[in-house]
Amino acid sequence: MLRVEKISTFDSPELQPYATMRRPAEHERQGIFVAEGTKVVQRLLESRYPVVSVVLPDKWLDDFRPLLEARTEPITVYLADKKLLETLTGFSMFQGVLAVGKIPPPASLDEILSKNQKPLLLVAVDALTNAENLGALVRNCVAFGVQALIVGETSSSPFLRRAVRNSMGTIFQLPVIEMAKLGLRHRFKTKPHTTQLTLAECLKELRAHGIRCIAAHPHTDKKFLSQADLSGDCCLVFGSEGDGISPAVLAACDEAVAIPMPPTVDSLNVGAAAAVFLYEVARQRKKT
Ligand SMILES: C[S@@+](CC[C@H](N)C(=O)[O-])C[C@H]1O[C@@H](n2cnc3c(N)ncnc32)[C@H](O)[C@@H]1O
Repeated sequence: MLRVEKISTFDSPELQPYATMRRPAEHERQGIFVAEGTKVVQRLLESRYPVVSVVLPDKWLDDFRPLLEARTEPITVYLADKKLLETLTGFSMFQGVLAVGKIPPPASLDEILSKNQKPLLLVAVDALTNAENLGALVRNCVAFGVQALIVGETSSSPFLRRAVRNSMGTIFQLPVIEMAKLGLRHRFKTKPHTTQLTLAECLKELRAHGIRCIAAHPHTDKKFLSQADLSGDCCLVFGSEGDGISPAVLAACDEAVAIPMPPTVDSLNVGAAAAVFLYEVARQRKKT
């Protein structure tokens, strides 16, 4: 099912995603994403995500051939050397290896709750718009065995090009529920008649299933991380770079927990905070 073609322009409609790499939101609306770099493209080809096309310099074709030939869907491999690719995309590239994949439909909350090993470990993000930070957080989630990522309706998609790149392709291993994309077929027991579900409502639904929702919040002196019980089913909630967790989402959580910091420091980067929280979960669950 492999078609290999040498290219000298991006005129063909199939190559448009590579010519519009600065417009990732457009890709997202089309249900696709661009993966960059040998490791990320390799992880995409090893995943269950549908792949549409790959762009490679000739010298990489033999290395990628076994992975490409193992795929069952039709994939076109476009060959272009790195210099030409940089001219066509307007980006300077380290390796000149790119691919277009399809964003899967949102994971099912029911399946996540029923099919995963207990204690459950979920992560939610509220209004997180920086794609690089989101990608780093995804990488930490996969490294520490998070079973699903819940992306609030005001957060960026983890399938934006920079998020995929910063996740190092680990996003392809993590079930994702994007609140903004949940359709009618997803209904919560706690809010059955609705079309638009919010992160706050999703947290309420999780709590109705006995999952503790814990806000990672630098501005609380009520509980520090070492005092929090993370051994049972829980969903850790992280906020945005600027405003942190919104009042509605904070109110929907069971408690707020802080990593202690000196008064001269406002907060940690969200990816770093997630790594500290997730390590503490692993420690308490004796997985370190
Ligand atoms: C850059 S911080 C947000 C800072 C923001 N100015 C605020 O007021 O919350 C981004 C997110 O990382 C997490 N975070 C950062 N430092 C933390 C800390 N010391 N304790 C708990 N969570 C932290 C929180 O989820 C926070 O919303």
